[in-house]
Amino acid sequence: IAAIDLARAIPKAELHVHVEGTLEPELIFQLAGRNGVTLPYDDVEALRKAYAFTDLQSFLDIYYAGASVLLKEQDFYDMAMAYLRCAHADRVVHAEIFFDPQTHTARGVPMQIVIEGLHRACVDAGQELGISAVLILCFLRHLSEDDALATLEAALPWRDRFIGIGLDSSEFGHPPEKFARVFARARELGLRLVAHAGEEGPPAYIRQALDVLQVERIDHGVRSIEEPALVARLASERMPLTVCPLSNLKLKGVQDLARHPLRKLLQAGVCVTINSDDPAYFDGYVTENYAQTIEALKLTPEEVVQIARNSFEASFVDEAQRQQWL
Ligand code: HPA
Ligand code: ZN
Repeated sequence: IAAIDLARAIPKAELHVHVEGTLEPELIFQLAGRNGVTLPYDDVEALRKAYAFTDLQSFLDIYYAGASVLLKEQDFYDMAMAYLRCAHADRVVHAEIFFDPQTHTARGVPMQIVIEGLHRACVDAGQELGISAVLILCFLRHLSEDDALATLEAALPWRDRFIGIGLDSSEFGHPPEKFARVFARARELGLRLVAHAGEEGPPAYIRQALDVLQVERIDHGVRSIEEPALVARLASERMPLTVCPLSNLKLKGVQDLARHPLRKLLQAGVCVTINSDDPAYFDGYVTENYAQTIEALKLTPEEVVQIARNSFEASFVDEAQRQQWL
């Protein structure tokens, strides 16, 4: 179909991808072998079979287990480089990549190893592929705010290696307001602010992320559809949503893609973008997310162009770079 070919061909920005969620089963086994880590799965096939999720938490349990093979700077480099090659093949020209330092520092991996490995991949991919890539440090919301504050302080020696902060992991019971102080601190430091909200959690969490955390984008945000006044606010503020259709499908946020609210949000004037979230776990990088959404919702070529333009509008690149892509 024309719209799908267009989605493949046009330049896009990816704004919602967790680098740990790009770790393919083959690379998990390769790193496990290299690092002498024993996995509770016999082979790649057995691991892939375990990717049958019922909700966000069932995914997170296996996602954190997969990340346990990451120990050395080269491991973080190899993971990020593999993602950037896939993104480049998908015509992603700019990526804002989430990483979860607490997943690694809690296992004794130094902050320096994590950040330097990921950053080196961003630099090399820029040179080799011409792709632009930056990092966003995410806090795990199932941990305490004090842990997040300590993590931010521990990352400050590498302040110039990441452009912003985010909030991810288990949403229920961990409202945005739990992280008010660490977001205020990051704002003082001049960092850009995003947060996952309204993926599984209620629309009130989206309002809190806006009003209490003062975020500049909402990651997911699909449950905003339940509150027409909130949808109208997102539209009037041009507050971007980084929507991840295949993620919502695989984690049972939607029964099938034909019922995904993306098109309604777009038609309401919300700055909707399409992203992959955790492509190694949800069976699709960004173009596959576009393709399946286009097919299920019958998006038009004009809507596809609008979504790709939204991805640059919603990105944290400077105005000169933005104009070049828009
Ligand atoms: N939601 C929350 N936390 C996450 C996700 C997600 O979709 N992916 C990786 N960590
Ligand atoms: Zn996410």
